[in-house]
Amino acid sequence: MSKKTPLAVVILAAGKGTRMQSSMPKVMHKVLGLPMINWILNTVGFLKPDKTIVVVGEGMDDLIAAIAPHEYVIQHAQMGTGDALKAALPALKGFIGDVLVVLGDMPLLNPASLERLIAARRTGADTGISVLGAQVGNPFGYGRLLINKDGTLLAIREEKDANDNEKLVNIVNTGAFCLDSRRIERWLLNVNNNNAQGEYYITDLPEVAAKDNMSTRIALVGDPREVCGCNTHQELVDLEAIAQQMLRESFIDDGVIMQDPASVYLHYDTQIGAGTLIEPNVYFGGGVVVGEDVHIKAFCYFEGATIGNKTTVGPYARLRPGAEIGQEVRIGNFVEVKKSVIGHRSKISHLAYVGDAIMGADVNFGCGAITVNYDGFEKHQTVIGDGVMIGSNVNLVAPVALDNGAFVAAGSTITKNVPADALSVGRSEVKVRQGWAALNRKRKNINK
Ligand code: UD1
Ligand code: CA
Repeated sequence: MSKKTPLAVVILAAGKGTRMQSSMPKVMHKVLGLPMINWILNTVGFLKPDKTIVVVGEGMDDLIAAIAPHEYVIQHAQMGTGDALKAALPALKGFIGDVLVVLGDMPLLNPASLERLIAARRTGADTGISVLGAQVGNPFGYGRLLINKDGTLLAIREEKDANDNEKLVNIVNTGAFCLDSRRIERWLLNVNNNNAQGEYYITDLPEVAAKDNMSTRIALVGDPREVCGCNTHQELVDLEAIAQQMLRESFIDDGVIMQDPASVYLHYDTQIGAGTLIEPNVYFGGGVVVGEDVHIKAFCYFEGATIGNKTTVGPYARLRPGAEIGQEVRIGNFVEVKKSVIGHRSKISHLAYVGDAIMGADVNFGCGAITVNYDGFEKHQTVIGDGVMIGSNVNLVAPVALDNGAFVAAGSTITKNVPADALSVGRSEVKVRQGWAALNRKRKNINK
């Protein structure tokens, strides 16, 4: 191939999503925690397009904010996908190359499938359009690809317009098209709305192009699940389940071990290193990065946390935003860590709260010990040096610092800094009265 053909992407996202019964634009609904529009923007980003234009509806300010810094155009009335593409024409003025059109409600499309779609458009001098299809088990609801004997596309028939024979076709339209920019405008002028929905369909373009002696080629997705779109809440639930499954599979392929994958809930940006073992029922919120050979025991909840290599977490641990756990650390049951750095090999084995702390390496943070980080107005920091031993049931009242090697006796409430290698005890002295308990029992018996 000579010089690279320029590429423009148009994402159709102006639909109100009436079937979602929500005031939010459909493409703002989230899958794995990320709005669908951002999924598709990320996907087309891999293709390094020369320009990306999103077609939005009027008053969709949240959507416009989510699109930035990409260009958007407004489709004032939603009269169908063909009309939506028409709304993008002014923004395409002067552009010569391939125009990739994708639907905003199809978040699972893979960049490799779109690359195949673009390559198909560039095959053969008479190819005006390429369409991305998928062979699916249940084609209900999708446009069907009616294919010529030579493998080119004859037409796309929408569910509502299809006859019984056409409905049997199980190769469906993903909604992704690649078109020769020089002909789009003319072809769109020839699309009418004589169909069951009274809409201008982008799917009519292949038939229009055929009248122009230009053929339409078909590319197929790599994984039929990529075609899963979202028109209703139930479909959003199904889409989420499929996206979860696909992401889990990719981790498993990369060497993550999951004992019960279906019970591990991931976020779109979750990162997990090879060799990490995840027991059942673990929740990943946004921004979690897990290293290699980590052991995550059952029933953990993570958000915005990083976990170093060979660390063990759980069962029943909660890591909140800003928890930076080092390597070979042990975080045990009912431990909560927030906005704190935990040094290598430190142990917080049970029933503890660590918030706004900087903890060194080889620290032992005892059972029931906590950082007292909040005075009712502000948060304060606790600094714990290397090798510090903190006994059970200790309150570290921040701001406070314990220097390297310090020892804090169990049950202490520490309100001032402790120097290196010092012992600190902050609890009332134990009084012992010989024979008191026996005397007490006797007295109670007499009174009865
Ligand atoms: C569309 C396709 C169908 C395909 C299916 C894949 C058409 C006519 N049909 O049907 O062949 O199998 O997607 O999921 O294209 N939109 C606008 N403006 C409009 C109408 C829609 O921007 O006037 C946007 C929507 O925001 C949405 C996308 O286009 O992101 C698709 O619209 P939707 O109504 O969901 O089309 P489907 O009925 O699913
Ligand atoms: Ca749709």
